[in-house]
Amino acid sequence: MSGAEQHYIAEAFASNWIAPLGPHVDAFERELAEAVGAGHAAAVSSGTAAIHLALRLLGVGPGDRVFCSSLTFVASANPILYQGAEPVFIDAEPETWGMSPQALERALDEAAKEGRLPKAVIVVHLFGQCARMDEISALCGTYGVPIVEDAAEALGSSYKGRHAGTIGRFGIYSFNGNKIITTSGGGMLVSDDGDAIREARVLASQARDPAVHYEHSRPGYNYRLSNVLAGIGRAQLKVLADRVEARRAIFERYRTALEARPGIRFMPELPGTRSNRWLTALTVDEHLAGVTASQLVAWLAEDRIESRPVWKPLHLQPLFAGARFYSHGIREDVSARLFRTGICLPSGSAMTPEEQERVIERLKAGMKSGQAAAGT
Ligand SMILES: Cc1ncc(COP(=O)(O)O)c(C=O)c1O
Repeated sequence: MSGAEQHYIAEAFASNWIAPLGPHVDAFERELAEAVGAGHAAAVSSGTAAIHLALRLLGVGPGDRVFCSSLTFVASANPILYQGAEPVFIDAEPETWGMSPQALERALDEAAKEGRLPKAVIVVHLFGQCARMDEISALCGTYGVPIVEDAAEALGSSYKGRHAGTIGRFGIYSFNGNKIITTSGGGMLVSDDGDAIREARVLASQARDPAVHYEHSRPGYNYRLSNVLAGIGRAQLKVLADRVEARRAIFERYRTALEARPGIRFMPELPGTRSNRWLTALTVDEHLAGVTASQLVAWLAEDRIESRPVWKPLHLQPLFAGARFYSHGIREDVSARLFRTGICLPSGSAMTPEEQERVIERLKAGMKSGQAAAGT
């Protein structure tokens, strides 16, 4: 927390605006839209809800296909299932770890030949790093398929001067507890299409038709954000730039200390993009480092340091068994390799240099003992 949240919470309590909606919600939508340069924004209860609303607004329904990055958290794709549609997973590429334009091109080409183009492409900006939006937008433009940018992890990141989440037809952000700013739980749907965002607010409020009584002609959801949480969001938004600086500094400290180690490669940053470095991620080449990524995760855990593997790709999840998958190269599954070799290090904005030093020293010791065991 930034310290300013109590002021907004007190305001909500003093005015008795506790229930969903209220002046903080309107202000939070306005302030976030302004911060990222989006035309309009709808505050909702989670990032997942925002993705779901985007798909509903794009008319995704049973029998439709939706393409989605494979290397991501399951929340990116669950809303495809909510709509009874078929997910098709697209591999990552090595320079952004985001959606591979090569794989996307093959998938779109094949879908066009089959006469079953997707209703939407969900592009994830992984760990804050923007995907190759120029190439992806050009491909989707050629086939007339709208993009939903899952920028849940990428608030505060930019791509060639534009904010992550404002390049596709819709963008979504998450304010879940682990994100760069948080409302404890919450999300935002953004778009330049004002009518779509107004419709999103209606759908998120049980799709009530305009009438004095309760009239409903289509299914809706209870997805709006509460006025109290929106107040927390307003205070958090004020420190977003500081949080990005803090996370980038954490990344740089790790990089400076560890990048010369054999077999260690940090997540790249594509020229022209600026990542919020939500999580510091790196890959470990076991042949050069003498240890595997999972051995390092276990080694850190022994010293009560929590690290995580990179997301397990969705095309490898039992939930999506049998789903189509398009790999980056014909025989090159980049997301599977990143899952096997990747580690996310502790990256909280409040981490002190001393805490970080402890992680770095432990990692160095882990690599040294691995190399000693391997006789290198
Ligand atoms: C890539 C990605 N998409 C979507 C979500 C869903 O956001 P939420 O937890 O707010 O529903 C998350 C995080 O939780 C995420 O990391």
